[in-house]
Amino acid sequence: MNKVAVVTGAGSGIGRALAKALAARGCRLALSDVNGIGLAETVAGLKEADVRSYHLDVSDRDAIYAHAEAVAADFGQINLVINNAGVALSASIREMTDEDFKWVMDIDFWGVAHGSRAFLPHLIASGDGHVVNVSSVFGLIGVPKQSAYNAAKFAVRGFTEALRQEMKLEEQPVAVSCVHPGGIRTNIANAARMGRSENAAAQRKGFDKMAMTTPEKAAAIIVKGILKDESRILVGPDAWGIEAINRLLGAAYQPLVERFSRKNLYR
Ligand SMILES: NC(=O)c1ccc[n+]([C@@H]2O[C@H](COP(=O)([O-])OP(=O)(O)OC[C@H]3O[C@@H](n4cnc5c(N)ncnc54)[C@H](O)[C@@H]3O)[C@@H](O)[C@H]2O)c1
Repeated sequence: MNKVAVVTGAGSGIGRALAKALAARGCRLALSDVNGIGLAETVAGLKEADVRSYHLDVSDRDAIYAHAEAVAADFGQINLVINNAGVALSASIREMTDEDFKWVMDIDFWGVAHGSRAFLPHLIASGDGHVVNVSSVFGLIGVPKQSAYNAAKFAVRGFTEALRQEMKLEEQPVAVSCVHPGGIRTNIANAARMGRSENAAAQRKGFDKMAMTTPEKAAAIIVKGILKDESRILVGPDAWGIEAINRLLGAAYQPLVERFSRKNLYR
């Protein structure tokens, strides 16, 4: 690839695996995270790579714009931006606090929106750019107790699909992909916030049981999707299943989710 790639949330999970996969393809890497320890571990695992690490909180709009300038100055060009950093919250709409709702939106939506906009001039200037925004299968279907995450991830999908069309219509040299992972075995459930009455241990156990795909496999699928310039990159068999249900049933998928949730979430 021999490109300069930016990955947010590179201190764990999918971001770390993407860093490894991109390094293996010869990318020069600008990796960031709010968690310095996790990020240092990622960098330590990339022995031969040309890599720089940056402390970045993606919920801080001005910090993202400053980061884009710093990466451009350090590397001289930017080809690929993967807005991957994200967090999860499990809480009903009635119980969720405004603070937790805002926390999710600031990181999972605004982090991605600002990340796309801040880097866009640099990607255009490169003559060969690509924006990759990480949504979720929960950007395809609504699920109880995931309303904030749903709102953020649906918003990422809408924003990213609009951006792709704009880049084409404006004939800009920037490809755009939206990633929809199913369950990936990362730290996301451990780091998640939970509503007051949620059984955190049971939910985390449930997530571990359902997460089918390793971060390494997820990264390989995402890199392949980037190389093929896919507009929607589905990650894992569960993501393909959810996409299929969505296409076949439209809004009538909802009773299926209710039935599943009654058994698994509302016992
Ligand atoms: N794991 C899954 O099942 C799954 C499914 C669908 C979508 N996703 C999405 O994939 C992306 C990566 O998640 P993951 O599963 O690798 O989780 P993870 O918790 O293993 O990694 C997320 C990383 O983001 C970082 N981060 C959190 N808040 C941040 C902030 N404010 N600024 C900068 N970095 C921050 C964390 O420190 C962590 O290193 C997220 O956007 C997540 O929503 C994950």
